[in-house]
Amino acid sequence: MNNNEMHVVSPELFLSNTQHFNALMMMYRSTIREIRTKLEVLDDEFSIKYNRNPISSIKTRIKTPSSIYEKLKKMGFEFTEKNIREQLNDVAGIRVICPFIDDIYTIANLISDQDDITIIRIKDYIMNPKPNGYRSYHMIVEIPIFFAEGKTPMRAEIQIRTLAMDFWASVEHQLRYKKNIGDPKQCEIISQELLKCAQTLTETDNQMQSIKKMIGELD
Ligand code: GTP
Ligand code: MG
Repeated sequence: MNNNEMHVVSPELFLSNTQHFNALMMMYRSTIREIRTKLEVLDDEFSIKYNRNPISSIKTRIKTPSSIYEKLKKMGFEFTEKNIREQLNDVAGIRVICPFIDDIYTIANLISDQDDITIIRIKDYIMNPKPNGYRSYHMIVEIPIFFAEGKTPMRAEIQIRTLAMDFWASVEHQLRYKKNIGDPKQCEIISQELLKCAQTLTETDNQMQSIKKMIGELD
C-alpha cells in the first residue's frame, strides 16, 4: 500500500474504527480482570482454610491486533467485531500456574462450579498430552460482564498448568519461533530432546504429587 492508497480511508472513518476496536479490547481486558479476581478469591480462601496456595502465579495477555487479524484471515473470516467475538476464543488469555497436578483440577472444578461461568470447551492435555509432549489443562469459558449499557457475554481461554509444564512450554515456544530458520535435522533432534524432557517433567510432577500426599498424611 502506498501513501496515496492509505489516504483513501477518511481520517474520520479510520478513527471511528479505531475507537470501536479499542472499546472491544477494553471489554476483553475487563473479562481478564473479572476472571483474575475469581481466581485470586479462590486462592485466598484456600490459603485461609488449608494454609497453602493452590495458585503459584497468574499471567494474562490480550491478543495483539495483528494476531487477531492474522488468525481471522487464516480461518477465512473478515476482520469485524462480530467475527472477533464469535470466531476467536482466545482474545482474552489467562494462564494459571499451580504447584501440583491436583491443584489444576481443584481450580478447574471451582471455576466450573461458579454459576455465572459457562464452559464452552475443555481440552485436557494432561490426561492426553500432545505428541510433542505439551501438557496443560485448557478451558474456554464465557462470562457475563456488566457495562453501562448492560451485560455482555465474553469469552476467554484459561490455561492451567504446573510449574514444570509451564517451564517446558516456555522453552518449547522459543523453538517454535526458530523452527523455520535452522536445518530440519537439527530441529528434529531438539524436538526429540524436548519430548524426553516432557517425560522427565511428567515423572517429576507425579513424584511431587506423591510427596505432597505423604506430607498430608503426617498431619
Ligand atoms: P490455537 O489456534 O493455537 O488457539 O489452537 P486451538 O484453538 O486448537 O487451541 P489449543 O487449546 O490446542 O491451544 C491453544 C494454546 O495453547 C496455544 O495458543 C498455546 O498458548 C498453547 N499451546 C498449545 N499447544 C502448544 C504446544 O505444543 N506448545 C506450547 N508451547 N504451547 C501450546
Ligand atoms: Mg491460541
